Amino acid sequence: MTPVTDAGVDAAGGIVEAAPAKLNLYLHVLGRRADGYHELDSLVAFADVGDRLRLLPAGDGPHLTITGPFADALHGEDPAGNLVTRAARALAERRGRAAAVRMVLEKNLPVASGIGGGSADAAACLRALARLWEIPADHPDLYEVGGRLGADVPVCLAGRPAYFGGIGDRLDPAPALPRTHAVLVNPGVPVPTPAVFKARQGAFSPPARFAEPPADAAALAALLKDRRNDLTEPARTVAPVIAAVLEAIGATPGCLLARLSGSGATCFGLYATAAAAQAAAGRLAAAYPGWWVRPAALLS
Ligand code: C5P
Repeated sequence: MTPVTDAGVDAAGGIVEAAPAKLNLYLHVLGRRADGYHELDSLVAFADVGDRLRLLPAGDGPHLTITGPFADALHGEDPAGNLVTRAARALAERRGRAAAVRMVLEKNLPVASGIGGGSADAAACLRALARLWEIPADHPDLYEVGGRLGADVPVCLAGRPAYFGGIGDRLDPAPALPRTHAVLVNPGVPVPTPAVFKARQGAFSPPARFAEPPADAAALAALLKDRRNDLTEPARTVAPVIAAVLEAIGATPGCLLARLSGSGATCFGLYATAAAAQAAAGRLAAAYPGWWVRPAALLS
C-alpha cells in the first residue's frame, strides 16, 4: 500500500482511514430485549493497531479489494456482502447518490475476533466517504447508517473511548483514560458473536460506569478488576482455548489485567509501560508461535 504522506491522503490521492482495533475494557450484559439483542454496558477504547481502508472515486462501484495478512480469511465470502461494501451502498442510498468508489481494505486484524474488525472497517468506510462527499464527521446519517450495519459500528465511527449502552446505539463520553499499553492476543479461532450470546446463562449484571479519570494505568486496571467481561464464560464454551490465552497473558511480568474483548476470541493484557507490553508480546509470540500477538498503546 502507498504510505500515507499527508493528513490521511496518500500520494495517489486516495483517502486513507485507519480502522483501529476496539477493546471492551469491561463489558456487562444488563438484560435481553424481546428482539433477542442484549442491553450492554461497556467501556470501549481503541488500540493503535488496526486495518486500513483506502478509497478513491471511480466511474462506478462500489469495488472492494482486500489485501493484508488476514485477507485470505475473507476470500471465500461474497464481496457484495462485506460490511465495507454494504456501508458504502447504504450511505450512498441514504445520501441519494451513487457509491462510485474503489476501495482497498488492508486486513491486519484477525477476523471474527471481538476487536471490532468488520465494524471498524465499515466505520472507516463511512468516515472516508464523508470526507469524499463533504459530509460533516458527526452527521446523524453516518450514525444511523452505521447502527443498521452492526451494533459496534457507531462506537467505531466515534473512534475514541466511550461508554457504550443500549445495544450499542447509546454512546456517552468516557472519562479521560491514562496512558496505557496493551498486548492483543488471538489464538486463531474465529468466534461468531451470535453463538456466544446464545451460550450466555445466569444472572445479568448491573451497569458499572465510573466518572473519575483514573490517575494511571494501575488505577485504571484496579477499576476494571471490579468489573468484568460477562461474555468470557460463554466465549470459553465456544472456544475453550480462551482460558489458556488469558492465563498466558496474566502470567507475563507487569501484566495489570488480562481480559477477553467483546465476544472473543481476542484477549488483551494491560501494562503500565511500552517496554513491559513489548517484552510480554515477545514472550507470548515465542511461546505460542501459532497465536497472533501485537503490542499496542491505547488511543486516548
Ligand atoms: O450487530 P452485530 O452484527 O454486531 O451482532 C451480531 C449478533 O450478536 C446479533 O445478531 C445478536 O445475536 C448478538 N448481539 C446481541 N446483543 C448485542 C449485540 C449483538 O445479542 N448488543
